[in-house]
Amino acid sequence: MTEPLTPRHCSSPALLLACLFLVFFTPTMVASLGINYGQIANNLPSPENVVPLVKSIGASRIKLYDADPHVLKAFANTGVEFIVSLGNEYLAKMKDPSKAQSWVKTNVQAYLPATKITCIAVGNEVLTFNDTSLTDNLLPAMQSVHTALVNLKLDKQVSVTTAHSLAILETSYPPSAGAFRRDLVKCVTQIVDFHCKTGSPFLINAYPYFAYKGNPKQVSLDFVLFQPNSGIVDPESNLHYDNMLFAQIDAVHSALSSIGYKNVCVQISETGWPSKGDADEAGATPENARKYNCNLMKLIGQKKGTPMRPNSDLNIYVFALFNENLKPGPSSERNYGLFKPDGSQAYPLGVPAINAVSTNSSFGGSGSDTGTTPSASLPPASSSSGYLAITSDSGRRLSRCNSLLLYLVAFISLALHLQC
Ligand SMILES: *[C@@H]1O[C@H](CO)[C@@H](O)[C@H](O)[C@H]1NC(C)=O
Ligand SMILES: *[C@@H]1O[C@H](CO)[C@@H](O)[C@H](O)[C@H]1NC(C)=O
Repeated sequence: MTEPLTPRHCSSPALLLACLFLVFFTPTMVASLGINYGQIANNLPSPENVVPLVKSIGASRIKLYDADPHVLKAFANTGVEFIVSLGNEYLAKMKDPSKAQSWVKTNVQAYLPATKITCIAVGNEVLTFNDTSLTDNLLPAMQSVHTALVNLKLDKQVSVTTAHSLAILETSYPPSAGAFRRDLVKCVTQIVDFHCKTGSPFLINAYPYFAYKGNPKQVSLDFVLFQPNSGIVDPESNLHYDNMLFAQIDAVHSALSSIGYKNVCVQISETGWPSKGDADEAGATPENARKYNCNLMKLIGQKKGTPMRPNSDLNIYVFALFNENLKPGPSSERNYGLFKPDGSQAYPLGVPAINAVSTNSSFGGSGSDTGTTPSASLPPASSSSGYLAITSDSGRRLSRCNSLLLYLVAFISLALHLQC
């Protein structure tokens, strides 16, 4: 499909536009917080009761691991943007264009426009399962889902992508040396080519926590938690890094550049820190989780880019909204939530708590008997905690790589012979 190592530039209007956008619109750009809404649990509040929780942390984007109808209905007319997902078990099926089309009709089209579904993630961390048949099905599945969107005339408002584990990188340090696993280069190149052609973002799940847990004696806790520290200088680029997440993101930028793609929009589809873990899981404490997530949310609010992309909006989905009691694996896996299932904060988030409730009752009871409507307990936009003021209609709209506005600007700019 492509020559993996031949340098090339994305020429799709959407990507060109993403660049132009950065050049011309950075000052008005409003960052927004995304949150992963995982539901591997049997004790979570009903989606209606989750709406005020999401608003309380200033999140305007949600990533789901499925296309849960109850959630998509509950968030209708809230302005919250959604990435819905197709699990890995669907990939083989989705290669069939008619099945892809009926999935899109039922799970996406049916909720538009009231629920703002803007992206479909096809598969999660597929390439690092090392399962050839799964890997081989990934791009064809993405392509048929995209074709279905084109047929339904939804491709301008809904993009198609897949989320990767950071482990698709063979080298991630220093950031300038970032490179994909050699055995994955061909496949990743084809996927990135798809992103370029369709204007969709490249998603990566990045957890500095794993680096710390694997090597707590060597890795500086302050460096991974965004706390003040002297940081590191990349010897090749001379860029200074004071936190590991930015180093990881820039390693992805370098890896993409090394296969010839310099302008791909990279988003962090998952990052987070567990508030609890097993005895052998260093660093999994409420205090560290609080530092990681609160510092991260402040950074997002400050609209800071990474050293390699200083003017680029950080497009990040925190993992996760809730602790999920049925997740397998070590204890940390069940303790990534910002919230406990009863709606109370897992640790102080620096925002006023919404009336916590048990799973059985609802926020505001049946709507009015608490005297405090969910929105009434929202913190004011001018809150000093910084990241609460990061949402707005324009922010949500512009945060998409391929929004309509971007196309418009692209065409105008092209007419003016501007190059990215
Ligand atoms: C997949 O393969 C890579 C490289 O061959 C290896 O490092 C990694 O541990 C494997 N992952 C799994 C889940 O088997
Ligand atoms: C929820 O309600 C059910 C049945 O009404 C009850 O058995 C259960 O104990 C309640 N759980 C909580 C957490 O209140």
